[in-house]
Amino acid sequence: MARTAWVGGNWKCNGTTESIKTLGEVFNGTSFDKKKLNVVIFPTAIHYSTARQALNEQYELGSQNVSKTKNGAFTGEVSAEMLKNMNVPWTLVGHSERRTLYHETDADTAVKTKIALEHGIEVCLCIGETLEEREAEKTNEVCSRQIDACVEAISDWNKVVIAYEPVWAIGTGKVASQQQAQDAHEAIRAHIAKKVSQEVADKVRIVYGGSVSDANCEGLIQMKDIDGFLVGGASLKPAFVDIIKAVKAARA
Ligand code: PGA
Repeated sequence: MARTAWVGGNWKCNGTTESIKTLGEVFNGTSFDKKKLNVVIFPTAIHYSTARQALNEQYELGSQNVSKTKNGAFTGEVSAEMLKNMNVPWTLVGHSERRTLYHETDADTAVKTKIALEHGIEVCLCIGETLEEREAEKTNEVCSRQIDACVEAISDWNKVVIAYEPVWAIGTGKVASQQQAQDAHEAIRAHIAKKVSQEVADKVRIVYGGSVSDANCEGLIQMKDIDGFLVGGASLKPAFVDIIKAVKAARA
């Protein structure tokens, strides 16, 4: 079954008005068919409108986080209601930096997933094991646990992309091998088949994240269960366009 390819650019806590304008000029220089390839940029909330102005309509935008609470006395939060009101179509949920540095639990990711979907916001749900967990051969167990926590919260699987991001590969320059990534994606798909349905497992997009670059993306995208990427560091560089081009050539 052909799944629409998906590439995310997670800018994390980076960017200035000038750097976003410059990147926008570079990104706008490439073209792709939105029906075959979705490219979603995740700027900081404060840079959202700067990014929207800098990037042409091929690019969708998303939030790096969504509050688990509604509007109200929640200082520092950005609610799903606000994302909807501002026409932000996507949000990341459960990024490992949120889990590790800000102590978000599996239960938090479930609440965030549910509240985003209820507001019509598509979710890129990030999962993945630490180095310690991989060395203890717990990769599949951890990914399954992180998915299971969210299964009940997911009302529409068409609105969810899973990002498999081994924590040891994020921002380290240590990318998973093609086979390591394929094995994890295949196991995630099999787990979703068991937990949800074969139909959902066949349809859901599973993208790889963790030190993806223009140098390693071509090999990874050849793997049958890899439907695209969530890119951090390289999405802040002109080379992001080469990643888009590689995915387009292979899958779109
Ligand atoms: P990286 O980040 O590409 O810089 O490793 C990926 C991510 O955190 O989503």
